[in-house]
Amino acid sequence: MATIYLALLSVVVPFLIIVKCESISRADFPYGFTFGTASSAYQSDIDLMKDLGMDAYRFSISWSRILPTFGDRVKNWMTFNEPHGMAIQGYDLGVQAPGRCSILGHLICKNGKSSVEPYLVAHNILLSHAAAYHSYQNNFKESQQGRVGIVLDAKWYEPISNKDEDIDAARRALDFGLGWFLDPLLLGDYPLSMQKLVGERLPEIVPEVSRFLKGSLDFIGINHYTTLYARNDRTRIRKLVLQDASSDSAVITTGMDDPNRSHLVLDKALKDDKRINYHRDYLSNLSAAIRQDDCDIRGYFVWSLLDNWEWNMGYTVRFGLYYVDFKNNLTRIPKSSVKWFKNMLKSRGDSSLEWQ
Ligand SMILES: *[C@@H]1O[C@H](CO)[C@@H](O)[C@H](O)[C@H]1NC(C)=O
Ligand SMILES: *[C@@H]1O[C@H](CO)[C@@H](O)[C@H](O)[C@H]1NC(C)=O
Ligand SMILES: *[C@@H]1O[C@H](CO)[C@@H](O)[C@H](O)[C@H]1NC(C)=O
Repeated sequence: MATIYLALLSVVVPFLIIVKCESISRADFPYGFTFGTASSAYQSDIDLMKDLGMDAYRFSISWSRILPTFGDRVKNWMTFNEPHGMAIQGYDLGVQAPGRCSILGHLICKNGKSSVEPYLVAHNILLSHAAAYHSYQNNFKESQQGRVGIVLDAKWYEPISNKDEDIDAARRALDFGLGWFLDPLLLGDYPLSMQKLVGERLPEIVPEVSRFLKGSLDFIGINHYTTLYARNDRTRIRKLVLQDASSDSAVITTGMDDPNRSHLVLDKALKDDKRINYHRDYLSNLSAAIRQDDCDIRGYFVWSLLDNWEWNMGYTVRFGLYYVDFKNNLTRIPKSSVKWFKNMLKSRGDSSLEWQ
């Protein structure tokens, strides 16, 4: 899910860094680094992507549409997209399908149990992901030579103060967000903070299942859009009121949402400097993570190519590099960011840094 833009703090940045960021290009990434765009459907505009200079396209298809074809042509498979969102939006808050929850005395949803079902759903997602992974390994990998991973939605959390309790809260927020899925897949069990705070509502991972889950991915996809501040929730009032899964972490988060800009006039919407700065800052930090911290990062996919139907927000938010005029035959109009990406991508990659 594409959410919200990063709350950019106004800090004084040394001039040199600005220059470096301004001039970010393919050359700042290793040879073979993949740039792509993503969308939620496959009926998309390949010519526009090619014109942008993108190398790849990430899209979603339902399994039933492709079985039993495609297998020999697709090399990168992702079993689930944003399982955290599925569990929380669908079974804790009930704002997305299938709309189950128990918060506020079933005022919002008829059925569900917000303190229990998200954990069951997440557990079954993990089990089915691992089953798909092992099935591919056993039956298809040799002939098709593809890779299987999962895409996790992950916000970053910064402690709102230097106090230990807030630093712990930020850590817990990461555990309950990313760690919920990543720990079982990498370490074979749920994060300790979750085990402690969720108790017996958290399904147990017995040793045999732990071995089944652990290491069941060839790559990790991260959908990341924003960072929030985390503060320890001392009062636990939210927990008392809602009795749901997302209050188990005892963290209060705050951030800055991008305002609902669906009313923006066209020429303002096309001048998307904020989007350009956003991608430029992420890309220069990503390049630094690869070069300075030796992170093995293989690609960057922009969400999204076109203004799209955004979960339960519909067409009210516009995340595209291309503006889509929904009232005028879905005409695609390039925003400023299209020109920026074209320019950024026109040079070839830096061949001095190659993947192993
Ligand atoms: C966004 O604003 C439009 C009108 O300006 C309104 O119709 C729509 O409900 C708003 N969407 C959200 C998610 O608030
Ligand atoms: C990382 O992004 C921040 C803005 O969020 C920017 O100030 C900083 O210069 C970037 N760092 C690098 C190494 O590019
Ligand atoms: C709408 O767009 C499609 C695809 O670009 C085009 O084939 C069609 O002629 C357009 N229709 C009108 C009425 O402009």
